[in-house]
Amino acid sequence: MDKLVIRGGAVLSGSVRIGGMKNAALPILYACVLVKGKCVIENVPDVRDVTMSIDILKDMGAKIEKIAPTTYEIDCTDVRQGTSRPELVQRLRASYYLLGAELGRFGRAHVSLPGGCNFGGSRPIDQHIKGFEALGARVVMDEDLGTVDCEAPNGVIGDDVFFDTVTVGGTMNIMLAAVTAKGNTMIENAAREPHIVDLANFLNTCGARISGAGTDVIKIRGVRELHGSTYAIIPDMIEAGTYMIAAAATGGCVKIENVIPKHLEAISAKLEDVGVIVEELDDAVIVTGRGQVNATRLKTRPYPGFPTDMHPQMSAMLTRAHGTSIVIEGVYENRFKYAEELKKMGADITVNGHTAVISEVDALHGAEVKAVDLRAGVAMVIAGLIAEGETTITNIVYIERGYDDIVGKLTALGADIKKVSE
Ligand code: EPZ
Repeated sequence: MDKLVIRGGAVLSGSVRIGGMKNAALPILYACVLVKGKCVIENVPDVRDVTMSIDILKDMGAKIEKIAPTTYEIDCTDVRQGTSRPELVQRLRASYYLLGAELGRFGRAHVSLPGGCNFGGSRPIDQHIKGFEALGARVVMDEDLGTVDCEAPNGVIGDDVFFDTVTVGGTMNIMLAAVTAKGNTMIENAAREPHIVDLANFLNTCGARISGAGTDVIKIRGVRELHGSTYAIIPDMIEAGTYMIAAAATGGCVKIENVIPKHLEAISAKLEDVGVIVEELDDAVIVTGRGQVNATRLKTRPYPGFPTDMHPQMSAMLTRAHGTSIVIEGVYENRFKYAEELKKMGADITVNGHTAVISEVDALHGAEVKAVDLRAGVAMVIAGLIAEGETTITNIVYIERGYDDIVGKLTALGADIKKVSE
């Protein structure tokens, strides 16, 4: 197994180019199952979750060709319904988008329950099921077999769907099921993330009729079928935010290129709150740290609130903040498994339910730590960058699920980081 070895102390400087958004690329790849014809998807990030999804779709009969470093040609005309292999789909949560895509294309779906990062709490799909049932599907979950079967005997029929809780995956899955339904669908209490808008924009280029994406009410007029199209994925706001925090935590000055500043507003505002300078350009932000950051109070919320996927990275930086910080996880039951790993490095962090209290320490020291999930893993990278001495991070396959060439990008910014085989 590979591991990362980081020698802390470097002050990051220079520029880094952000790739396509993982959490937009995944639903868009699975959405191609709805399309009878060829799609060309550009700015696809080279990360494990994407390559695993491409393997799943190829295994089902999709013709997928990489025609440029971040561009794929995808033709799902010959995809066979219900043939996704459990050992493949159980490796990542996003495979559950096959439920909406198969239901929308074939009127039935069969997928093994998803895997993916477990934050020490359940990650249910009850709202997805509620939505499918509202659209006329019968849903059977077999907990023993770990499978979900959906069947719409009269085809998917548009209707109103009201989510009890804001869910990104649920919003995407119902959009996938509804775009070729008979009649119209309205999703209320929809998630508003930029990647929801990206999926809607992609589907509309294929002939779908979706309006309201990015607001909490999304309207979908069912169309008979979708045609192929060419589409470029939006930049990854979480990858961008991660490098923004790395720059701020090391007191450096870094230009983060190929971003949409509007998507980063909550992150930029919080960094300015702790004393960091963030300058916005058309498609870049420049982050300038000014030594020790100030403590803050942070609560994660669905977009446009502070992203839950940025919470571990913030905590890593706040271990060295002046004063005591409060971090409240407002989206998941529990996302604090990384706290024990930060404590191994000397952090003073106390977790109680949804809340962590992080008190100032003079320094973090290098240690042997592990990535316990994707964003927790990259939080350990940030902690390693600001720790004294050498930090070793194992389980880095988690990090590679969502970060393309993090070693190369950080090295180019002046970090002392290497990937070595254990
Ligand atoms: C997506 O997960 C992302 N994953 C997550 O990013 C991200 O943290 C999350 O959205 C929130 O932004 C992908 O896009 C592949 P949710 P998803 O459904 O769709 C509860 C990363 O680091 N809920 O919005 O699974 C759920 O338990 C990953 O890139 C229900 O109760 O998230 C959670 O508490 C980690 N019932 C909350 O809603 C449901 O049916 C938000 O979940 C669905 C969700």
